[in-house]
Amino acid sequence: MVRPLIAGNWKMNGLGRDLAEARAVAASLAETPAESRVAICPPATLLARMAEALSGSSVLLGGQDCHAEPSGAFTGDISAEMLADAGARLVIVGHSERRAGHGETDAMVAAKAAAAVRAGLQPIVCVGESRAQRDAGQTLEVIRRQVAGSIPPGMAEGGFALAYEPIWAIGAGATPTPDEIAAGAAALRQSLIDCAGAAGRTAPILYGGSVKPDNAAQILKLPEIGGALVGGASLKAADFLAIIRAQA
Ligand code: 13P
Repeated sequence: MVRPLIAGNWKMNGLGRDLAEARAVAASLAETPAESRVAICPPATLLARMAEALSGSSVLLGGQDCHAEPSGAFTGDISAEMLADAGARLVIVGHSERRAGHGETDAMVAAKAAAAVRAGLQPIVCVGESRAQRDAGQTLEVIRRQVAGSIPPGMAEGGFALAYEPIWAIGAGATPTPDEIAAGAAALRQSLIDCAGAAGRTAPILYGGSVKPDNAAQILKLPEIGGALVGGASLKAADFLAIIRAQA
């Protein structure tokens, strides 16, 4: 059985003083270990200090994005190799905020995921439908297409995770119904198997979009859901720990 993954995406939030929240998560998990793997993906400015804060703990460090090239003239970008060098073990790629705000296509996301694997990182590849696509009844078609285009060929078992993040649920305080999440996850599992074979059968499918302490247990027990990608609620140790502990 693959261990679930609960990952916190701090997005463009967090200053040095907020490392105390990560330390509190690590301290709690040292006392009472979690069922899941736990990761925190801070902004790039905190990677080195976060690596130090989490050193010796069970909490994994993750990046929020990476460039597809290992190095070069790409001002402002960070490569997967640099993330690994800073102590990261995972990296989010293809988040909808990158796809929408930075014009990232499925092909670019696939190149980033391949770069992550090359650097020894586990990519968390994000997909999810917009409000308009949902309203038009296109959810499953859209997320299937995103998986087919965003998962690079040759992924190894245990090498990656997928995050299903309906765009309209992110930061909205609203989530799909449990049946909708389960239907999305079932479609994603089939797409993963179609494009990655055995690796697609076991890759954890995380749900993301307004995961909170009060809905985490219900979401995490849904079939095919193997964890959560948590935004706002990962910024405070108490909330993030409540989500981590909600795993049955
Ligand atoms: P929220 O949990 O704040 O809705 O964000 C979800 C998300 O985008 C995680 O990557």
